[in-house]
Parts: sequence; structure tokens; C-alpha cells
Amino acid sequence: MEDKLSQVAEWILRANKVVVFSGAGLSTESGIPDFRSPGGVWDRYNPEDFYFQNFLASETSREKYWQMATEMYEPMKKAQPNLAHLAIAEMERLGKLDCVITQNIDGLHFKAGNSKEKVIQLHGTAMFVSCLSCGKSYDREVIQERIQKGVKAPSCDDCGGPLKPATISFGQSMPERETEEAYHRSSSSDLFIAIGSSLVVQPAASMPLVAKRNGAKLVIINRDPTPYDTMADLVIHGQAGTVMASILEKVKEKK
Ligand code: APR
Repeated sequence: MEDKLSQVAEWILRANKVVVFSGAGLSTESGIPDFRSPGGVWDRYNPEDFYFQNFLASETSREKYWQMATEMYEPMKKAQPNLAHLAIAEMERLGKLDCVITQNIDGLHFKAGNSKEKVIQLHGTAMFVSCLSCGKSYDREVIQERIQKGVKAPSCDDCGGPLKPATISFGQSMPERETEEAYHRSSSSDLFIAIGSSLVVQPAASMPLVAKRNGAKLVIINRDPTPYDTMADLVIHGQAGTVMASILEKVKEKK
């Protein structure tokens, strides 16, 4: 393991454009369950209930969606960045981070200290709510207060349209600017580090492939095996927090 950690640190120091790609596994050590591990979100909820078409279909579906979304939001609201988030923020301070491409909606990269321009939120954010009709944006807490007061499916103050957390649901179109930027950054990276993702959800999961095909070294840090392990230059099966903290220690020693 030590050799692998040193190798990644060496590659970070030598690289010009380091892209970090993060998934829900990066935030489990902050108390937010991931999706596909035992006890994860898709163990407790049926993913079909989260389909965008269902949300649009009826008031009842929206009420069900908001009930589930509220339960998922609680641990996110309280969560603090863990060692892995802090290590990635430090990479930015050291000038060794081109960007973070994240599938996570919890906003913890910002809480850890990464700047807005360095984080690409591919699946949106749970920290804001948008009107699907007029696009008006609301702070999540403002809408959660209405839910606590008994509102089941909140609607827009301006146009009366349905409000939804500003996340990208299955069946919803991906955010154009963020997706294009993520492809561009992945294809021009020379070191791509995927952390805490099962790498099964498209189009996000194609980013490591794009990077590899354009000549980047691919490192995968994940507790469980992923479908891309065989094509990676280096794989570490371990806890993201301890692994990233050790790698950063070595980067600082060698710098
Ligand atoms: N350290 C390292 N890896 C971890 C840790 C940890 N502390 N905790 C969990 N993992 C790993 C798991 O082994 C799993 O392979 O993180 C991975 C998380 O995978 P998923 O739950 O599938 O999450 P993610 O890849 O982010 O899912 C992609 O799917 O449901 C949608 O929109 C949702 O953005 C999400 C997308």
C-alpha cells in the first residue's frame, strides 16, 4: 500500500492537470449514505420513484418525492467535510488541482474549501431548489421550513410551478455547460483520480474513459472493485479519507 500511495503522490507532483472525479463514496465518512452499497439509498428507496417523469406526472408523486428528498437531505445538512474532502481542497491550495468533477449533490467540496470555479457539479446540488416552470431559485432551507409546516409538494411563489431540489434526476437532461466542461477537462487532464464512485452511471462514468483515451494516467480509489479497475494505471481499494490524507502527506513531503 505504501508504494501505491507514494506512486500517486509522485504522479500528482509531476502532473500538469490533475482532475479529481468524486462519487457518493467520498461522503460516507461524513455520515451521508451512498447509493449502491448495502444499506445505501437504493436499498431503502425504489429508484423509479425518483424518475423525473414521475415527478412531473402527478401531485402525489411530487409529495412522495419530497418526503424521500427531505429524509435524504437531513444527513447532508449536518454533514462536515472529511479527510478526503480536506485533502482535495489542499490540492487546490498547493496549485495541484485542475478541477473536481463531482456527482455529489451535498456541497461538501465547497465546505472543505474548494473554490466555486474549481468544482463541476454534474448532478446538480441539493442545497438549492428550482422552479421547473420559471427557473426561480430558492435556498433549500427556506423550502424545508415550508415542508416542516406541512406543505407536501411546494410550488413557486412567482408562477405557481412545481419546485424541485436542483439535482439531476434519472430521466432529466444533464446540465449542458457542466457536462461539456467536464468532458473538456477530462480530455485535457494528464492525471485523473476517481474516488468513491461505482462508475456505473452514465454519462458521468464515461469521464475516466475520456481521460484515459486522451493519454491521462487513471487512478481509482474505491472501497469496492469497479468495472474500470482493469484499465486503470493504479487501483487502491480502501477508505477514501485515510488514503487521500496519506497521499497528501506524501505530496507535501516530496514537494
Ligand atoms: N471510501 C472509498 N470508497 C467508498 C467509501 C469510502 N469511505 N464508501 C463507499 N465507497 C464506495 C462504494 O464501494 C461504492 O462502490 O463508493 C462507491 C459509491 O458508489 P455509488 O453508491 O454507486 O455512488 P456513485 O458512484 O456516486 O453513484 C453515481 O448514481 O444514484 C445515482 O445520481 C446518483 O450521483 C449518483 C450516481
